[in-house]
Amino acid sequence: MIVVNSVQTLRRLIQTHRDMGHRIGFVPTMGNLHAGHLSLVKTAKQHADIVVVSIFVNPTQFGPNEDFDSYPRTFEQDQALLEQEGADIIFAPEVAEVYPNWPNLTRVQVAELGNNHCGASRPGHFDGVTTVVSKLFNMVRPDCAVFGQKDFQQLAIIRRMTSDLNFDIDIIGAPIVREANGLAMSSRNGYLSTEQKEHASFIYQTLSWMKQQIENGERDYRALEQAAKQRLTEQNFKPDYVHVARQDNLEMAQDGDQQLVLLIAAFMGKVRLIDNMTLEI
Ligand code: PAJ
Repeated sequence: MIVVNSVQTLRRLIQTHRDMGHRIGFVPTMGNLHAGHLSLVKTAKQHADIVVVSIFVNPTQFGPNEDFDSYPRTFEQDQALLEQEGADIIFAPEVAEVYPNWPNLTRVQVAELGNNHCGASRPGHFDGVTTVVSKLFNMVRPDCAVFGQKDFQQLAIIRRMTSDLNFDIDIIGAPIVREANGLAMSSRNGYLSTEQKEHASFIYQTLSWMKQQIENGERDYRALEQAAKQRLTEQNFKPDYVHVARQDNLEMAQDGDQQLVLLIAAFMGKVRLIDNMTLEI
């Protein structure tokens, strides 16, 4: 496994693989890797000969009062995990390498899909994501890239960006990896105590409860959202949003829609957790 910090070296290295006819798979991350990230590497290995993993805590996707400075940076541990998992190249650039004209930026903005859910709560967040992912796509020029369904809205936005900007890249969605208690794995779980992690699984339980209600015939989705919010509040969470949405365009679901996604963002103390669950009716 090779660690590369510069775009120029990365390009040269990848070109040698391309010349050998290798298919390039790409997994973008912000590091502090856990089993969720590693599952993406496994998936990438199934679809490609060479797997490139980027580790870059992207400043443009954090709001002014968010955790950019304190975001966990654990490069050595990440490197060991990726080595074990059989990744081939780690691309770990500095901010100046990715954004040479910082803070003046050319930005990539996807229409519509970023207006609601996390996009409404975190203004500018998805523009930061699409800006960095499009730059990384141009640096790596992969044949395929793997993203987690844990960030359902992010995945939808990246699919749209890839299609709208004609990137010739297969976008692969990978299932959510959870702790034994159901809590979706996340780098931000590291901010929680063991006890809080146990309690945080209530978000997953709430999603499962909502799914059950719908399977039992509930079709008043706005009432269901309110009831789920109430349950979260009673358990000392501060819900940011609870939405029943359509999988295709992420609009709020109405009776008659068949492919649904249940989306929750909730604060536990200062830590914002997100999770989701899909269902077909
Ligand atoms: P990060 O939060 O590090 O996540 C990197 C990738 O891992 C994303 O595709 C995310 O959906 C996936 N992932 C995280 N937790 C997961 C879990 N429990 N199960 C399955 N997949 C999981 O998402 C980002 O970084 C950034 O926005 C990025 C795309 C790298 C752009 O900066």
